[in-house]
Amino acid sequence: MPRPHRRPLQRDWRIDAGDHAAAYRARREFADELRKVRWQNADHASAELIFGELVHNAVRHARSLVQVQLIIDGSPRLLVRDDGPGFWFREPTLAPPEAERGRGLGIVRAVARGMHFERRGDASVVTVQLPLWLHCACKDVDFRGQPDALRG
Ligand SMILES: Nc1ncnc2c1ncn2[C@@H]1O[C@H](COP(=O)(O)OP(=O)(O)OP(=O)(O)O)[C@@H](O)[C@H]1O
Ligand SMILES: [Mg+2]
Repeated sequence: MPRPHRRPLQRDWRIDAGDHAAAYRARREFADELRKVRWQNADHASAELIFGELVHNAVRHARSLVQVQLIIDGSPRLLVRDDGPGFWFREPTLAPPEAERGRGLGIVRAVARGMHFERRGDASVVTVQLPLWLHCACKDVDFRGQPDALRG
């Protein structure tokens, strides 16, 4: 018998272009969201840093809207979508010591479990596998249906 379709835990944010204060508030909410889940091993600081770097980049470059999605399943990940001009994504390297900018993506690449950039229509989407491991091997489990297993 096929397994019933199960949905992962998901949280979404919509942030206006240029609204760095909203991006900061979303980062705090993201951190709160992570604290609700029981992790086996979790690098919360790096996960927050990833959120901050990607979302602030997106907010700076978006034309009008940034959409952020946290998905917690067997492979916890963050998707950051913006409707800006996009950029030529290559493996980020560390900026030279004298540079004032250009470190964010390199740092994200160093602490993430994986990172992927794509252009979807008029939008740029960066997907990052977060450095978080769930308490149990529960790929494809509906966490909302089993709050006791993961929450609190
Ligand atoms: N969402 C995005 N849309 C368009 N360009 C982007 C986006 N994210 C990054 N970039 C481009 O990639 C470059 C490198 O990004 P990165 O975050 O590493 O550095 P930075 O934002 O310039 O500086 P820092 O993050 O160190 O303050 C940016 O300068 C920008 O040109
Ligand atoms: Mg940056």
